[in-house]
Amino acid sequence: MAFREIEPQKALTFIEPGPVVLVTTFDGKKHNVMTLTWTCPVNFDNDFILATGPWNHSFRALTETKECVVCIPPPSLLRRAVLAGTVSGKDADKFSSLGFTAVGAKAVKACLIAECSACLECTVTDYLPEYSLLVIHCNRVVVNDDVDARICHAVGDGTFFADGEKFVYRDEMKDKLPPGL
Ligand SMILES: Cc1cc2nc3c(=O)[nH]c(=O)nc-3n(C[C@H](O)[C@H](O)[C@H](O)COP(=O)(O)O)c2cc1C
Repeated sequence: MAFREIEPQKALTFIEPGPVVLVTTFDGKKHNVMTLTWTCPVNFDNDFILATGPWNHSFRALTETKECVVCIPPPSLLRRAVLAGTVSGKDADKFSSLGFTAVGAKAVKACLIAECSACLECTVTDYLPEYSLLVIHCNRVVVNDDVDARICHAVGDGTFFADGEKFVYRDEMKDKLPPGL
């Protein structure tokens, strides 16, 4: 099954839970991917923060092309997602070495990853060097219904867990939820 587009305002629902993400970039020559766990929504308008900086090879493509895709790996992809965060794209083609399948995006030149459950096509809108924070804006969201939609979370010490029990308090929160969420 291919990716299908969903409402862009749903982007928040993938970042708010604090996922392990794979961030793809394209520098004009090569696709690259890095792992990131320090992400944060900053409003309901599809703006998000990525904590990263010039020590990563991806940073140059992020700041020069001002484009990326934030992909949500399922638990079955987690080990490879972690490995993508241990090797630099400066020296390696992580798509072929880790077996990720690049799929063309629509809003950006960076690619989707076919093995991921959701991908957020984003532009880089700002960089706050004092804290090494990139501000990104999501323009398009696609999901693959055939991929396990559980999100992986990093504890921060090399251990991880996947989504477990879900609790629904939408009625209690209805005054705080903008339309479309
Ligand atoms: C689980 C995990 C989480 C990571 N989270 C971040 C992060 O939030 N920010 C960051 O700058 N690097 C993070 N990294 C490190 C980068 O993914 C790593 O430096 C990677 O090799 C960068 O790839 P690149 O040089 O091809 O850009 C993380 C790595 C792992 C394994």
